[in-house]
Amino acid sequence: MDVLSAIAGRKSIRAFKSDLVPKEMIERVLQAAIQAPSSSNQQPWRFFVVTGSEKERLTESLLKACKERSLKYDPSKGKTIPQEYVEKTKALFKDIRPYIQETGKPIKDFVEEGSYQFYQAPVAILITMDKCFPRSRLVDVGLAAENLMLAAHGLGLGTCALALILACEDVMREELKIPDNLEIILGIALGYPDTASPLYQFKSTRDELKDIVVWKGF
Ligand SMILES: Cc1cc2nc3c(=O)[nH]c(=O)nc-3n(C[C@H](O)[C@H](O)[C@H](O)COP(=O)(O)O)c2cc1C
Repeated sequence: MDVLSAIAGRKSIRAFKSDLVPKEMIERVLQAAIQAPSSSNQQPWRFFVVTGSEKERLTESLLKACKERSLKYDPSKGKTIPQEYVEKTKALFKDIRPYIQETGKPIKDFVEEGSYQFYQAPVAILITMDKCFPRSRLVDVGLAAENLMLAAHGLGLGTCALALILACEDVMREELKIPDNLEIILGIALGYPDTASPLYQFKSTRDELKDIVVWKGF
């Protein structure tokens, strides 16, 4: 698969088969992740890869904490973000709603509980970064995350990046004994896509270049 096809074909997967992913395959995906460029090649990322009973324990704790704290899905995270971006979240929910309806679950429960369970994927990956680094270094982690997701797609695996789980960072830290110096930046669900699920048909849209690019000197 060439790079452009991989980029075009990757999409968030929110329905997975229960089939286990061989460790060698996860290693290939992680090898791709760490080929990402990083500032001064400091490679600030650290990964926690969780499967089997450990993953079950993690997701049970996350779900419990989520319910106890009655976390609300707040796309703006309490900050005032321009209406343009709020509308994009609304558009995503409107677009994905028919696919989720087919699963019989309300959209809010599906997204919240689904995220907390890594959408039942057999593998949960947490990408962390040392707190000593400035926020600008999140770019490095983002680049590694995209490499990871593209490589997974190239190998026939599916992924979904997960930030909702960060509301329960303390729970993940405790369950996985994540050292205090590391901040959890992003979760990634990894597994074989359930291509029979109605959700597999969903593909999100993108802005048009004409609306977001300024060309000079052409
Ligand atoms: C940083 C980040 C956090 C995300 N968090 C979640 C999440 O918590 N739950 C979820 O279902 N999807 C999550 N997503 C997936 C986005 O909704 C998805 O990438 C976006 O709608 C574009 O769709 P696509 O990935 O299929 O191209 C996240 C994506 C990113 C990059």
